[in-house]
Amino acid sequence: MESVQAIKQRFGIIGNSPALNRAIEKAIQVAPTDISVLVTGESGVGKESIPKIIHQLSHRKHNKYIAVNCGAIPEGTIDSELFGHEKGSFTGATQTREGYFEVADGGTIFLDEVGELPLTTQVRLLRVLENGEFLKVGSSKVQKTNVRIVAATNVNMFEAIQKEKFREDLFYRLSTVDIHLPPLRERQEDIHLLFRKFASDFALKYKMPTVKLTDNAIQLLIKYRWSGNIRQLRNIAEQLSVLEQNRTISAETLRSYLPSTGTNLPAVIKTSKSESDFSSEREILYKVLFDMKSDLNDLKKLTMELMKHGNVKDVEKNNESLIQKIYGNANDEDTDYEDTTDTPEVISIPEHNQKVEDVETNLDKYHFAEEIEEEETLSLQDKELELIKKSLERHHGKRKLAAAELGISERTLYRKIKQYDL
Ligand SMILES: Nc1ncnc2c1ncn2[C@@H]1O[C@H](COP(=O)(O)OP(=O)(O)OP(=O)(O)O)[C@@H](O)[C@H]1O
Ligand SMILES: [Mg+2]
Repeated sequence: MESVQAIKQRFGIIGNSPALNRAIEKAIQVAPTDISVLVTGESGVGKESIPKIIHQLSHRKHNKYIAVNCGAIPEGTIDSELFGHEKGSFTGATQTREGYFEVADGGTIFLDEVGELPLTTQVRLLRVLENGEFLKVGSSKVQKTNVRIVAATNVNMFEAIQKEKFREDLFYRLSTVDIHLPPLRERQEDIHLLFRKFASDFALKYKMPTVKLTDNAIQLLIKYRWSGNIRQLRNIAEQLSVLEQNRTISAETLRSYLPSTGTNLPAVIKTSKSESDFSSEREILYKVLFDMKSDLNDLKKLTMELMKHGNVKDVEKNNESLIQKIYGNANDEDTDYEDTTDTPEVISIPEHNQKVEDVETNLDKYHFAEEIEEEETLSLQDKELELIKKSLERHHGKRKLAAAELGISERTLYRKIKQYDL
């Protein structure tokens, strides 16, 4: 059996804290079996190395290793991605396609961000885990596969189970063995070591002398909270390596690179929209614009309905919730100041999928309006992109926090990240 030290070297893992060593040791022990493993730990702690170690040290190492980011695949296509589909099973399914579970037969699948799997997919996954059986989307033919599953999550699975977002039976099936990677702040002995390694890597990469920290800077580095963990530390090391002329970094200089500087108190994590803090007026203005845009689209929809049906009473009856959303409650005096907390997806801009065939009148005008809207939407999309980018930066790529700040669901944020290729 390879030693923990040898594995660290082989997989480029830096650190010597007992908790890290234990996690690697567990991975080595469990690798030769087919037991399902759940890797847990905060974002950026290095979860992705564990499934690689397990696969490479298993008898499956000559077969496929497929890493799937469950959170990044839209809900509508995830079953087909994982289990494949039959030709004609949905619009656009022009060919029969193999899913990852078929392709990785004999190998290992790493299900990253497994907590994001939709409940229907969880049912399919449970079946594969129990007896290796699965069905392609649109097929009734049971297929068999022999895949070892390693999953990872940075969300609290017990909370997800309580909120009925994750099946309890699947959780226990996935986590036969749990490998936990501790946050960086609980591995203080590794922090400076990691920094030195990253600083030397970036010095090589950018062909500059290696940055070094003064004693005070080292103390600050060690005491900092590192809520983005190793990913954040690497990021700071890169920024310092590129931007600092003076290659000896003082505590003061280092502090200027650390968010919520000057303290080692836990970072304040804002989770609810009401606490959302858009730091500049410009951003607040964009937000207002998006809200207005959303109202405008609702109004357009209502106008279309009126144009189509003509009967005000019917339209009123069929669009009760929409009317309520735009005009508020008839009894409510503050109708102009709609509380947007009930419509959290405010930054999503509706797609242009309205059908115009039915509209018999004013076709020219309608097209004209569409053209204007197209331009307007483009610039709004730029702003939306900027808003998302900033929020992700602010939260060191943590989508959950960014989504909360933006007031949209995590899944909507994933869709947008994909849409904008972020
Ligand atoms: N012990 C380590 N030594 C060297 N680099 C590390 C170590 N742990 C993590 N890293 C680096 O930190 C970055 C983040 O690691 P990784 O992608 O595995 O995080 P994660 O736990 O999967 O986070 P998330 O939940 O956000 O996906 C990667 O660039 C990885 O190479
Ligand atoms: Mg990851």
